[in-house]
Amino acid sequence: MTTKERVFELIKIEDGRAISGENIAKALGISRAAVWKAINALRKDGYSISAVTNKGYSLSGDYILKSEIEAHLNDKNAFSITVLKKVDSTNTYLKNAAEKGEIDGSVIIAETQTAGKGRLGRHFYSEKGGLYMSILVRPNMPTERSLFITTGTAVAVSRAIEKICEKNVGIKWVNDIFLNGKKVCGILAEGASDFETGRLQYAVVGIGINVTEPKGKFNKEIADIATAIYDKDEPYGIKNRLAAEILNQFSEIMNAPDDKTVIDEYRARSIIIGKEVNIIENGELKTVTVADIDDTAAIILKTDDGNIIKKTSGEISIKVK
Ligand code: BTN
Repeated sequence: MTTKERVFELIKIEDGRAISGENIAKALGISRAAVWKAINALRKDGYSISAVTNKGYSLSGDYILKSEIEAHLNDKNAFSITVLKKVDSTNTYLKNAAEKGEIDGSVIIAETQTAGKGRLGRHFYSEKGGLYMSILVRPNMPTERSLFITTGTAVAVSRAIEKICEKNVGIKWVNDIFLNGKKVCGILAEGASDFETGRLQYAVVGIGINVTEPKGKFNKEIADIATAIYDKDEPYGIKNRLAAEILNQFSEIMNAPDDKTVIDEYRARSIIIGKEVNIIENGELKTVTVADIDDTAAIILKTDDGNIIKKTSGEISIKVK
């Protein structure tokens, strides 16, 4: 371990409390100047470490650390995690790696994204304050079942937010997680399939969660529709526990692709079944009622004139009224 890493470990152990430069120097057998140099290097790496006179240094709770995520995993060998300060898009990064043969279970987590992607080619807001992660899976699954990956992930993320952050969330078909009527998380699954076998080659599942509101608030395009799990300060190290729990739940769900209780849970968590919604289909806006979501995760809609129509995710965009 380098001096910088040893200093970081000591500060982190304090769980947000301050530790003096003198105590760090004594514990590590280094000079106070060396401590100061390490602190500056950590700040340059992007860690938010404050210095309070007569108290010392403390780490702000929003850090993301591979070792801490791993410490909360049920199966340490199931995932290979990389944490980045900044990336264009965790999905793009992992898709490139997948094309070059990267293995099942690779995970990329970033503190910010410069070109975060949403569904239907939209931009995904990815400032500091969020948790942006992508998981690479190579499930032995027919391509037509790939929607299961999105719905399974939505259930995994919902369970994790409820367990770790103790907030009740719902799912807006097909890939949005809602908290108090606003979007708190989006999911984007991308992949490639083998035309000869008709099976999925790989899928990259991207999850973007607003953990805290960004300092300058959400920008005005999304301010009315987006929310965060916490208004301002998040509990110390929560992103690490949340990321680990998402991975725990994800692996449980992906390991049992025939378990029908997952789609039952998806339906039970739906915030739109029975509601009137606006759909945009081929550029045209229509108001319909959501009758159900079937076992393949297709949505069953009832039009004003009583017609029943079934749609899959690629075909429409839904707005909760
Ligand atoms: C949506 O709401 O339309 C889907 C948003 C998915 C965002 C996540 S953030 C991590 C991963 N990387 C991306 O570029 N997008 C996904």
